[in-house]
Amino acid sequence: MVIKEADFIISSPDFRKCPITKFPEFAFVGRSNVGKSSLLNCLVNRKSLAKTSIRPGKTQLINHFLINRQWYLVDLPGYGWAKVSKKLKSQWKKMLSDYFLYRDNLACVFTLIDSRLKPQPVDLTFLKWLGENKIPFAIIFTKTDKVSKNLVNFNILTLKKTMMKDWEEIPDSFISSAKDKRGREEILDYIDNILRTIQ
Ligand code: GTP
Ligand code: MG
Repeated sequence: MVIKEADFIISSPDFRKCPITKFPEFAFVGRSNVGKSSLLNCLVNRKSLAKTSIRPGKTQLINHFLINRQWYLVDLPGYGWAKVSKKLKSQWKKMLSDYFLYRDNLACVFTLIDSRLKPQPVDLTFLKWLGENKIPFAIIFTKTDKVSKNLVNFNILTLKKTMMKDWEEIPDSFISSAKDKRGREEILDYIDNILRTIQ
């Protein structure tokens, strides 16, 4: 998959305001600060097409980026960020769940998980929710440049073992780093394959 064009289209507060389109889209979700916006930039080879920050809570809307004039990448706000008021938290939760449930052209949700951490309850709950609602997804382990290979492997294995208690099959997963571009080709190939099955 070669990325020839990547254009920011619109930020939407609600799935109803998202672009009306038949083009398939792939969304990035995960805890605040896990590296969603950075990974999007890494995939499209652009430094700051999506806005990133060292502080959690940077992305607050549904952001559509049109790729090669044929499909979308979508950068979403994070979940599980403690320093947000209860009201805002429930608004974001509704924004995200409505988007996942009702966005018809959603081809795959990439759920990003911090490879440095043991399985976080908020991530496990979210993955379960995706499964229960039959929303297609894959997992991307992020920031692998920041810790040892052993710890990354251990955390991934622990998550998979935990998931196996509830799931019949383990979802597809990728190991990534926005810093050294690890996983970029694999993720783009995965998207390419899904696009081929749709078109
Ligand atoms: P929100 O929009 O707040 O939910 O965060 P996000 O998930 O979009 O995270 P973002 O891409 O803004 O990255 C958060 C911080 O982590 C930034 O300081 C990034 O530079 C850093 N970061 C993201 N991915 C990586 C990575 O793969 N390696 C390293 N070393 N740092 C990363
Ligand atoms: Mg972001």
